[in-house]
Amino acid sequence: MENQVKPANGKLGILIPGLGAVATTVIAGVASINKGLSKPIGSVSQLSRIRLGKRTDNRNPIIKDFVPLANLQDIVFGGWDVYSDNVYEAASKAEVLEQHQLDQVRETLESIQPMKAVFDTNFIKNLDGTHIKTGLTRRQLADAVREDIRAFKEKNGLDRIVMVWCGSTEKYVETNEAFSTLAKLEEAFDNDDTRIPPSMIYCYAALMEGVPYVNGAPNLTCDVPAIVELAQKNEVAIAGKDFKTGQTLMKTIVAPGLQARALGVEGWFSTNILGNRDGLVLDDPDNFKTKEVSKLSVLEDILDADKNPELYGDLYHKVRINYYPPHKDNKESWDNIDIFGWLGYKMQIKINFLCRDSILAAPIVLDLALFIDLAQRANMHGVQEWLSFYLKAPQTAPGLPAEHDIFKQLMKLQNTLRHIMGEDLITHLGLDYYQELVDSIQ
Ligand SMILES: NC(=O)c1ccc[n+]([C@@H]2O[C@H](COP(=O)([O-])OP(=O)(O)OC[C@H]3O[C@@H](n4cnc5c(N)ncnc54)[C@H](O)[C@@H]3O)[C@@H](O)[C@H]2O)c1
Repeated sequence: MENQVKPANGKLGILIPGLGAVATTVIAGVASINKGLSKPIGSVSQLSRIRLGKRTDNRNPIIKDFVPLANLQDIVFGGWDVYSDNVYEAASKAEVLEQHQLDQVRETLESIQPMKAVFDTNFIKNLDGTHIKTGLTRRQLADAVREDIRAFKEKNGLDRIVMVWCGSTEKYVETNEAFSTLAKLEEAFDNDDTRIPPSMIYCYAALMEGVPYVNGAPNLTCDVPAIVELAQKNEVAIAGKDFKTGQTLMKTIVAPGLQARALGVEGWFSTNILGNRDGLVLDDPDNFKTKEVSKLSVLEDILDADKNPELYGDLYHKVRINYYPPHKDNKESWDNIDIFGWLGYKMQIKINFLCRDSILAAPIVLDLALFIDLAQRANMHGVQEWLSFYLKAPQTAPGLPAEHDIFKQLMKLQNTLRHIMGEDLITHLGLDYYQELVDSIQ
């Protein structure tokens, strides 16, 4: 497969619907890193090493030096928002990064002006932005986004583009007949069907332009048969959904450990307070429902009560998110975990995570953009399950249970990179080292 990976020549465009806290933090971060002012902490592609060959071979390159990824200097950002603030203004309002740090890259940030958004208040009620494409049918909106993509490519002399949804979480919707096949979705576009959410319009437009799409929110968007069919037909990579940061990241680190040691879990109560615009949107029960479904599935899947009824059969799992403006982007989460061990004796774990949501999300956006571009150049089309390492509710093939355990997800990611580059996969069996020892004694 190695020979089939096209090189990362030229410039890579990263187009982002939703230039809010997460998007502006990744854009400002890359600008700061490119000026030599910061380091890409949290970015696995930029800082983590990958072992190749045997443990004794001592081959442990940094991932970006192993697989051909776009250079950070070759990235051009753009995007859409329902507010007309440029990225410097939006980042200042988001109050994630300190003002003096934003000022160091002010010119770059000010040059990124959002394009007018595709928006529908039926899917998000708590936003009042007016920087919106109006008077168009859904088919015309998709065509307008396609035109935006082409114009962005032309204007910036780009070689390739990827799209990463960093827009607000849309209200909860179930999949429906219109999303069941590509033919039905096309018909829905022609009929200006109001069931099509804005996120799906961006995604459809991207895939029609051959642009890979990553869904950073829990909206269905590309996790419906019609869009999967389109991705396969047009040979484009897709991945989703919902960036795995904060509390869920902790859950997928702690829960596999408890499960691995056959410790029981009786209850897991998770609560959060956050005060950014994401929190405001999630204050609406319809939008929270989308997030709740994504957050709940993680634990149920890792602990798998059906297979382990003695340990997890009575698990009570609750997730709460509360909008609390004074905390801004600094989300605080509490987890109370009631566990039991040998002979059923009870114990408790308390986790109080004072995190910064967008600081955790920004490197994920960068890695996902770089890796989905790699997948596309490696001719890997359709759902990219190996990127589930970064996602709360990983999209998989129909009927295939998602893998939530972060350590298994990491092995999957690393082995996929080895596979792409024609290196041996690593199973961690390790018996060969001991056979060598026996052979050397005999
Ligand atoms: N920060 C995290 O740790 C994290 C983790 C997982 C998922 N997410 C998801 O990522 C998304 C972004 O989070 P955030 O903290 O940056 O939120 P945010 O509210 O700061 O930014 C979202 C932006 O999207 C814009 N928007 C909404 N609908 C749009 C549309 N149709 N077209 C264009 N722009 C649109 C909003 O105006 C806003 O500026 C949210 O869906 C959030 O749930 C964030």
